[in-house]
Amino acid sequence: MQKLLFCFLFIGITAGLAQQKIPANPPVKKSMQQVYYNEPFRPQFHFTPQKFWINDPNGLIYHNGEYHLFYQHNPFENKWGHMSWGHAVSKDLIRWKELPVALREENDKMVFSGSMVQDTKNTSGFGKSKDQPPHVAIFTAHDSVSQSQHLAYSIDNLKSFQRYSGNPVLDLHTKDFRDPNVFWFEKDKRWIMAVAMPNEKMVSIYSSYSLKQWSFESDFGPQADTSGVWECPDIFQVPVVGEPDQKKWVMFVSQNSSMQYFVGEFNGTHFFNENPYNKIFRPDYGPDYYAAVTYKNTPDKIPVSIGWVNNWNYANEIPTNPWKGAMSLPREIAVKKMGNEWILLQQPVKALRSLRSTAEVLKQPITVQTNYKVPFSGQQFEMELEMKASAPCIAGVKIAVGKKHYFSISYDATLEQLTIDRANTPSGFSSQYPYFAKKSAYLKAKNEKIKLHIFFDKSIVEIFANDGELVFTSQIFPESGDTGISFFSDGNTAIFDNVWFWRMNRNR
Ligand code: FRU
Repeated sequence: MQKLLFCFLFIGITAGLAQQKIPANPPVKKSMQQVYYNEPFRPQFHFTPQKFWINDPNGLIYHNGEYHLFYQHNPFENKWGHMSWGHAVSKDLIRWKELPVALREENDKMVFSGSMVQDTKNTSGFGKSKDQPPHVAIFTAHDSVSQSQHLAYSIDNLKSFQRYSGNPVLDLHTKDFRDPNVFWFEKDKRWIMAVAMPNEKMVSIYSSYSLKQWSFESDFGPQADTSGVWECPDIFQVPVVGEPDQKKWVMFVSQNSSMQYFVGEFNGTHFFNENPYNKIFRPDYGPDYYAAVTYKNTPDKIPVSIGWVNNWNYANEIPTNPWKGAMSLPREIAVKKMGNEWILLQQPVKALRSLRSTAEVLKQPITVQTNYKVPFSGQQFEMELEMKASAPCIAGVKIAVGKKHYFSISYDATLEQLTIDRANTPSGFSSQYPYFAKKSAYLKAKNEKIKLHIFFDKSIVEIFANDGELVFTSQIFPESGDTGISFFSDGNTAIFDNVWFWRMNRNR
């Protein structure tokens, strides 16, 4: 027996030696390998594609324990074009796995933005068996003369898609008519589509019993922000904070380079805005948040939104390679009433906390009159703090501080205004980018205090103020040494307290 063992061992070792002499796969030289996700400016806890261009999130749907993220994607180049639906999945909305392109440009028709539903009752008839209801993608087919709404379906759990032979399902024979967002309206047991009439600055609402035939119901708009073409509508129901039995309806619309929201009711045919007419409310007041839509069928029924972190005015010029475009942190959405206004409350999903490394804390309140250098630094972190500033104080936080640069977040206690400013960060790559450097929005202090929750991820800054009452998203392209953090004030006393800092791990 022992002899036999020795024999096998000997053959094993010599075979091993022989293998070592003639390697089957000669090692690829390091310099020849493309190493993704370590490039300058590459976000480490936001979704970005391995390579090439992306824009709007599309077809957000939760299925079998996974969140599917489809998105506008050019599979060939790092600039807009050949629009297709890229595809990624995640179990927690934070760690993503990229899958093959789901829908490609066909017959010179690009696949523009749209949505995805699971047709559980097989109203479309695309399903082949009862226990395998189809998924149906509703998207805009775009060519140089027209835009119309098309269907593609999957009967293998979103792995592959087939175009419906009866396309288009909704065609006004017009050049601009896009971004269908479809959901099931249980009360009337039928499908509802919100779709943009960009030039009219309206959202049209259609209904259907089959996803194949659509009837016009109503138009919403033009209203509030009509400064640019309206795109990417979404209508969804949200919880009301502190009122467990109450729900409201929200409409998202994107226009040109920013977004707005309306809050009110939807009765199956019409959307009614209950916020002051023509007052503009934005889900994000930063320069880089667009085309956000929601997961409507999350396990706890709280909608989660994702937006594209970029701005059409300079999107093609940002200095990132070999990819362009990122998705925002996924945000849980609710509303609350403040005075006579419904305000959107947004919080990054809790799963994000799993990327935190050990917390660093400043235990004592810090009084600042001019400048205080914070003992933490980096370009990949999360930070929370409270700041007390009484009028006429202007105070705040600087991040990405280097010899020549910084990004500032400041609160003007007199104007009750929060401002972000990236004017002192590198900007030479685009002539348009500097025009969007400074953004402000109204923020009410509570007992003269405001709360800031800041995420900095290499080239993305996302700031949630006062528990998500106000959000700003901005791209910045700092030098690698721009890692400092400081608190500042204009000579008046500001007090910083409850300062928490976490270095963030990467999501892969
Ligand atoms: C919004 C948008 C959509 C369109 C898509 C094309 O960013 O213009 O209206 O479907 O991008 O990529």
